[in-house]
Amino acid sequence: MKKFEIAVIPGDGIGKEVVPAALTVLNTAAEVHGGIRFDFTEFPWSCDYYLKHGQMMPDDGLQILQGFDAIFLGAVGNPRLVPDHISLWGLLIKIRREFEQVINIRPAKCFKGLCSPLVNPNDFDLIVVRENSEGEYSEVGGRIHRGEDELAIQNAVFTRKGTERAMRYAFELAQKRRGHVTSATKSNGIFHSMPFWDEVFNEVKQDYPDVATASIHIDALAAFFVTRPQMFDVIVASNLFGDILTDLGGAIMGSIGIAPAANINLNGKYPSMFEPVHGSAPDIYGKGIANPIGQIWTAKMMLDHFGEEELGNKILKVIEEVTEAGVKTPDMGGSASTREVTGEICRRLKAL
Ligand code: NAD
Ligand code: IPM
Ligand code: MN
Repeated sequence: MKKFEIAVIPGDGIGKEVVPAALTVLNTAAEVHGGIRFDFTEFPWSCDYYLKHGQMMPDDGLQILQGFDAIFLGAVGNPRLVPDHISLWGLLIKIRREFEQVINIRPAKCFKGLCSPLVNPNDFDLIVVRENSEGEYSEVGGRIHRGEDELAIQNAVFTRKGTERAMRYAFELAQKRRGHVTSATKSNGIFHSMPFWDEVFNEVKQDYPDVATASIHIDALAAFFVTRPQMFDVIVASNLFGDILTDLGGAIMGSIGIAPAANINLNGKYPSMFEPVHGSAPDIYGKGIANPIGQIWTAKMMLDHFGEEELGNKILKVIEEVTEAGVKTPDMGGSASTREVTGEICRRLKAL
């Protein structure tokens, strides 16, 4: 019996609804498989925790998490009660940074039965490899309070190591897929980072002669996501470009509630973290209508990470059967609840 120890952080808002849904699916998957067991340990770290304890997680929070095989997180943020820069930098970004989760993999594909807003969705299947540790999300900069002349400065930081690492990951992923990498650039802008990004991309691609490439400015690329997403296989993007593109990836699938993500630690020193693209959706929290598919597909990415692709693929297959059958939450154009979608996924998983 293989056993996986998973730290579960539902977090805030709909994280508390979609995480339990995905755990139910994981437990059902374990039953179906027979040779797997998941041990879930739940941590209440969230904005509510902050209001009680003055911090998003305890001082030894990272030490506690370090011993797990993976971290499964819902969403963080309740901006009505705690400013986002405190909650996010105190939990989500802290884990990404301290656990060197330098790559964020975020797929988007066309599911049968989903109501993509595209006129002709036509089977797109792409993955954004988002650089997850630096770039525009650097800690370099500051605010200067000078009355009317007050200002804020944010310096983007692109290291050769971080840039090259994300690009190599994208090329290696493309070799296992359809052999194409698009670089999201903006080298026509008046700044230093993107010509550097292009230079590194042009060097790295020499090592992968079997992979075809394109470099596309992020503004045009965003438009192509809408007009012809079928042209993409793997896209490598800086931290902020990747962040924005992947909400768009969710939108072209039909809802950002579907989009999954994996924060990958590459050096094996720390656990990786699995959390969907979307946030805590305070506008729908508590209504029981949050789309659980993003979190469930994220669970599938965690299974892939454990080397359990066959089981993961079963989950993905069942998700598509369920959307095709029309069991959908309101964001996907249906009227089913979180519980009904989850129940239908589990029922079909058992029937496989
Ligand atoms: P959001 O992703 O929470 O919501 C954007 C819109 O999408 C909302 O209308 C919401 O109802 C809808 N939506 C999102 N997920 C859905 C789902 N599963 N099912 C149905 N509808 C869904 O983004 P936001 O409103 O910008 O942010 C809300 C909070 O979440 C903020 O505090 C933000 O910082 C935080 N946030 C956290 C993460 C994370 O933890 N990974 C990611 C993004 C935003
Ligand atoms: C995401 C989120 C986070 C990010 C925020 C909440 C800090 O938008 O995971 O996509 O920008 O990385
Ligand atoms: Mn985002």
